Amino acid sequence: MDNFTFYAPTYFAFGKGEESKAGSLVKKFGGTKVLIHYGGGSVVKSGLLDRVKASLTESGIEFIELGGVKPNPRSGLVYEGIELCRREKVDFILAVGGGSTIDSSKAIAAGVVYDGDFWDYYEGKRIEEALPVGTVLTIAAAGSEGSPDSVITKEDGMLKRGASGDAIRPKFSILNPELTETLPPYQTAAGATDIIAHLYERYLTNTPNVQTTDRMIEGLILAMVEETPKVIKNPHDYDARANIMWAGMMAHNNSCGVGRSQDWTSHGIEHELSATYDCAHGAGLAVTMPAVFEYTMHHDVARFAQIANRVWGIPMNESNLEETALAGIKALKDFVKSIGMPVNFAELGAKEEDIPQMAHTCCYGDGSGSGKRYGFTVLDENDVIAIYKKML
Ligand code: NZQ
Ligand code: ZN
Repeated sequence: MDNFTFYAPTYFAFGKGEESKAGSLVKKFGGTKVLIHYGGGSVVKSGLLDRVKASLTESGIEFIELGGVKPNPRSGLVYEGIELCRREKVDFILAVGGGSTIDSSKAIAAGVVYDGDFWDYYEGKRIEEALPVGTVLTIAAAGSEGSPDSVITKEDGMLKRGASGDAIRPKFSILNPELTETLPPYQTAAGATDIIAHLYERYLTNTPNVQTTDRMIEGLILAMVEETPKVIKNPHDYDARANIMWAGMMAHNNSCGVGRSQDWTSHGIEHELSATYDCAHGAGLAVTMPAVFEYTMHHDVARFAQIANRVWGIPMNESNLEETALAGIKALKDFVKSIGMPVNFAELGAKEEDIPQMAHTCCYGDGSGSGKRYGFTVLDENDVIAIYKKML
């Protein structure tokens, strides 16, 4: 296992009705004037926004609002949010919604206290300072409620990029599984696929002797495979929703990724799909993961055989590990298909003619990239083209 530091001080309030604590939690973490940030309206329709506002008022916290965050959140609204917070002297950002709303909130939080262009952070500068952020989560998916990351799309060139720093880890996150019951099945499934991807991206490591985190990851994927079909069948299965919601947090706050190298190839390749076609990130991952895994598995076929055996129950064929590994990848593909996810370019609405451009941006970004993608394996533009072609 590699050396590591791990600092994840988010305060979690989990369970039914916990959103009524929003006001007292903002107060506990020093907020006096809040920007409530939200998406396209699901939190208005469900009444959640009104309940959160009532809780803030009850605690004597002033607030202003900024809605309109789109899935795959855009830089334009971030600039608007930064200006608004400076003008109104906001000292706390409260995200009410999914990963997109949380990521937009984190970007605003970092941008308000930074003299330069917030996009600098999305070109590699580490975030060291930000306004405090709290979240009321409405979808189990991105894991942004416990992560030090934010992913934003710059409209100019539709570049989708991530930024990181412990300063943007939420101070608190309210996780009420009931709030996820209004999700359309497609979004529930896309969220579940993203959670599984966050686990696979960590499982694919070049670090030896990481049994503890291997076993944590395997356990979490097993739980996801057990619980997800239950909520697809019955959206009101509270206990399954609760298990998925906590798995989503555990999958991405890095508690099962410490001390080991990680992959993130599937995410890098998928981000070009959601930037180009505005598809749900999890749906893009459903198409991307099997192609990436088949392409890279020979780098360490034993690792793919191990997850095939331990998670998907494929008998271990010691004399032909490749067969076991491939059966595991097929089991993953069958699973995402069974919950309603797309499994190829056509089902995603992606087009073959866009492959060269996406592969180029994936490897070179806006010109600052090295042309190589480093993860479980090292890939160049031709490899990425070949992977996209496998998705056809
Ligand atoms: O905008 P509203 O109206 O709220 O609707 C949203 C949106 O259309 C809807 N929704 C959310 N909760 C709902 C609901 N509809 C009904 N009932 C509810 N309870 O679902 C749609 C998707 O929401 P979004 O926030 O986009 O979903 P998700 O949490 O999957 O976030 C995706 C974004 O997170 C990024 C992705 O790339 C993508 O941009 N990621 C962020 C990460 C991070 N910060 O650590 C890591 C991830 O790997 C990921 O890249
Ligand atoms: Zn993801």
